[in-house]
Amino acid sequence: MYTIEVSFSPVLYDYKLTRDNFITVIVDILRATTSVCAALEHGVSSVIPVAGVEIAKKYKKRGFLVACERDGKVPDFADMGNSPSDFLKEDYKGKEIVFSTTNGTQSVQKARDSDLIVLGSFVNLSSLSEWIISREKNVVIFCAAWKNLFNLEDSVFAGALTEKLLDSGKFVTQCDSARAAIDLWDHAKTDLFCYLSKSSHRNRLKHLVSDSDYQYTVTLDSTTVVPVLIEGHFENANH
Ligand code: MLT
Repeated sequence: MYTIEVSFSPVLYDYKLTRDNFITVIVDILRATTSVCAALEHGVSSVIPVAGVEIAKKYKKRGFLVACERDGKVPDFADMGNSPSDFLKEDYKGKEIVFSTTNGTQSVQKARDSDLIVLGSFVNLSSLSEWIISREKNVVIFCAAWKNLFNLEDSVFAGALTEKLLDSGKFVTQCDSARAAIDLWDHAKTDLFCYLSKSSHRNRLKHLVSDSDYQYTVTLDSTTVVPVLIEGHFENANH
């Protein structure tokens, strides 16, 4: 049996009990991890996560396409922001995109102690869980949250993924955060769009993100993409 642990915030990740043979699933529903799934689904070849804006600027100077977001907004130097629809242009097919966001890409940086890093979102929930189940490793679900504070959307997703992994019969959990996340998921799952409308980040983004982008982020299983970090690039493990 393998274990599941949920970290509701980047600061809690430091205190996790799982230390060996583990996959970290980074979750940033609004919007980083959902948008990387959208990018790979629409033909972007790989996404290079970078934590700092200054590093993203350096890549831009070297001619890379750069997607960037800070506090929900797109900095002037960037080619695009981090909404799912930002990645749908035909010109981006086959390209590498450098990606830097407020919480999501910092979390990737922090999770480098794990054996594998993958990205989770509602849009790839089923494919991701199947992929994880076939890996035979413990799992830490790392909610990128908002500036180290708990957020609803990542925590609800943590519950959805935990439930799927437990249902496989190959996992157990002794983690109260995982149990609480399942309860949240149970409460939210009949109408995710409506339940997550009360999330603070959804409200922060209300005037910056279209309703169709928001709808995309709360739609289950619209893609089979599983973004896995390989030598500093997120690529689709499910080619
Ligand atoms: C993040 O990384 O914090 C998010 O993706 C922020 C956002 O999309 O506004």
